[in-house]
Amino acid sequence: MQFEKFESVGQLVEKIVKNITEIVVKKPEAVLCFACGETPRPVMNRLIQMKKSGEINFSKIKILGLDEWIGVGRETTGSCAQMLYDDFLIPMDFRPDQIHIFNGLAANLDLEVEQANQFIKDYGIDFVLLGIGMNGHIGLNEPGCDPMAKVNVISLSETTRKVMTKYFNDTIFLTQGITLGLSQLLKANHVVLMAVGERKAEIVKRVLNSDVTPDVPATVFKNKEKVCFFVDAEAGQFLK
Ligand code: PGA
Repeated sequence: MQFEKFESVGQLVEKIVKNITEIVVKKPEAVLCFACGETPRPVMNRLIQMKKSGEINFSKIKILGLDEWIGVGRETTGSCAQMLYDDFLIPMDFRPDQIHIFNGLAANLDLEVEQANQFIKDYGIDFVLLGIGMNGHIGLNEPGCDPMAKVNVISLSETTRKVMTKYFNDTIFLTQGITLGLSQLLKANHVVLMAVGERKAEIVKRVLNSDVTPDVPATVFKNKEKVCFFVDAEAGQFLK
């Protein structure tokens, strides 16, 4: 894993955007997987700006969603689908055939799992942008998860249930999520773990200082060469 601390979020965003655009130039039909929410938003905003000014052409790429809360759909503010659509997919004018994301309201979750596994089997993942949860979770692979897992439905940890309330207007009681599995994320051609802000400083330090353990899911990326762990000065404040 290559670790790099950037002076500003802006510099970190430029690095990630350069990474993504180079991949798409080489492979216009690349599959890009994005986490949703606060962390990846500045990257999305920069890509939207570049699209509007005609600097990039993403008309052939495919977008794969990373995770979703079970029990909410796109119409619920705070769902991953809502954030991905409003923050990125709509402003980027992606067509429905370019998008594969989870439906947290699906009546048949087994089918939801199967379809995402099939998508990855068919197309692979060229690039994935991941955040890190306060407990080290990746996507919704929570502490104690199976590093060999493919797409799976999981029980949300106490920490995640607390943290997630920031995304919902109403008090919503959710206990489960669906997520791409660590084994699939580890096989992606390029992986960027991104952490910004002071609140992530402790977990960034913990990931870098601890051995590889499913108790801190982000650590399973440590022995992988093609993984970049990029943090801003605040998230990396305890590290050189
Ligand atoms: P955040 O979440 O972007 O809300 O900090 C990161 C994560 O849980 O992966």
